[in-house]
Amino acid sequence: MDRASLFKGPAIGLGTWQMGERASAAGAEVAAILHALERGIRLIDTAEMYADGESERRVGEALKHWGVARREAITLVTKVLPHNASRDGTVRACEDSLRRLGVDYVDVYLLHWQGSHAFERTLEGFAALRERGLIRHWGVSNFDVSPLQRWLDTEARLGLASGCATNQVYYSLLARGPEFDLLPAMAEQHMPLMAYTPLGSGALARDKRLAAIAAPLGVTAAQLALAWVIRSGQVVAIPKSSHPARIDENLAAAELTLTPEVLKQIDALFVPPVRKVSLAMV
Ligand SMILES: NC(=O)c1ccc[n+]([C@@H]2O[C@H](COP(=O)([O-])OP(=O)(O)OC[C@H]3O[C@@H](n4cnc5c(N)ncnc54)[C@H](OP(=O)(O)O)[C@@H]3O)[C@@H](O)[C@H]2O)c1
Repeated sequence: MDRASLFKGPAIGLGTWQMGERASAAGAEVAAILHALERGIRLIDTAEMYADGESERRVGEALKHWGVARREAITLVTKVLPHNASRDGTVRACEDSLRRLGVDYVDVYLLHWQGSHAFERTLEGFAALRERGLIRHWGVSNFDVSPLQRWLDTEARLGLASGCATNQVYYSLLARGPEFDLLPAMAEQHMPLMAYTPLGSGALARDKRLAAIAAPLGVTAAQLALAWVIRSGQVVAIPKSSHPARIDENLAAAELTLTPEVLKQIDALFVPPVRKVSLAMV
């Protein structure tokens, strides 16, 4: 499945890790998510792990204001924790997520990272959820090339080929490893990559060297970092921000096209991988 068929709207979405941690921030966080939707962001990423489900509740609250009638326009992504990812545990975890989100289905349900449950069991859970219409697609997260291949082989053995819709991994100018082998392997499968921590937890937005390349283009360092991550058309990025102005800034990066000259300047600062680098995790 190509990127555009899986992810509705622009290649910049919204991450929600660390939302839901403070009750006093609830109003601002719900408003930020709603702002993102109103400005045209159509991909929202959350997880049962984030603030023990409170991040999903914040997303649910924003969706309530957004209106169920417009639910179809959004790609909603959430994740099952590895220790819950048995067959029945996966189903229960998803049902709990749906309750917190206040929706009937999630668009993409991910295994957050590999745990001790066999892939077969998690896949049986995913397949049961899809059968019941509770999820539209499933995928994985933090999977390097070999585990991804094992996952795909398991799907094929279970007669669930072409099931895995995406792999959400750490990919940014500070973590270029996936370019060496993971991105090409996923391109072969026509599988889009969802880039998490695309701003290096905010460090790239503050990077003075990047800002110096960005300034003559009339953009910010954050926008340059995000435009770079999504440049291939195979990648969507999910920067997190609880600030409306930053959300607007980040979304605008979806419109930027980088010239070969700019890409060369960036490569000089953040060197592309020339050998296998194990997948980094945040
Ligand atoms: N699957 C996984 O294992 C995994 C792991 C990590 C993350 N994720 C997902 O990926 C999302 C994004 O990753 P992340 O939150 O780790 O890091 P990130 O998006 O790279 O960076 C977020 C940080 O950057 C700041 N920021 C955002 N836009 C900015 C801008 N334009 N200018 C300056 N600062 C800006 C944010 O602060 P403010 O909020 O104060 O603006 C926040 O502190 C997460 O929220 C989560 O949904 C998934």
